Amino acid sequence: MNLRTRIALVTLITSAWVACASTGVPAPETPAAASPAAQPAASTAGGRAAFLNACSGCHGEDATGGLGPPLVPARRDAETLNEIVRNGLGLMPPLDPGLITDDQIVQVVAFLNSLSQ
Ligand code: HEC
Repeated sequence: MNLRTRIALVTLITSAWVACASTGVPAPETPAAASPAAQPAASTAGGRAAFLNACSGCHGEDATGGLGPPLVPARRDAETLNEIVRNGLGLMPPLDPGLITDDQIVQVVAFLNSLSQ
């Protein structure tokens, strides 16, 4: 096999591999992500559970406030909420990932949004 053939072969194999990786058979996680109907409900329920566990003591079970201010209507995006929860704010203490994970904070945003509709 001469060099030119070899380069052509390598190019072919590489591009076939890239094509497979990007557009080929869906990865195993794709089918789960492809059921959009199931996801908001799941994250809302998860968000509610996380909220009741980590936030409701100060913000009330329905997020209408208590020691802390009302969180509805929701006005914080996931990134800002994560910053507030991790760093604390005024009288609100920073919360540890052992109490609420980053994923759960995202779910809490979904939960707060669902309360605000
Ligand atoms: C120990 C009580 C306490 C807990 C637990 C707590 N908070 Fe707070 N939170 C407060 C207080 C008090 C404030 C008001 C801080 C200030 O403005 O001085 C506050 C403020 C906030 C704010 C800013 C309000 C706004 O939008 O202007 C957000 C957002 C918030 N909390 C979200 C959460 C979330 C989400 C959780 C649970 C993961 C949580 N908090 C848990 C006491 C708490």
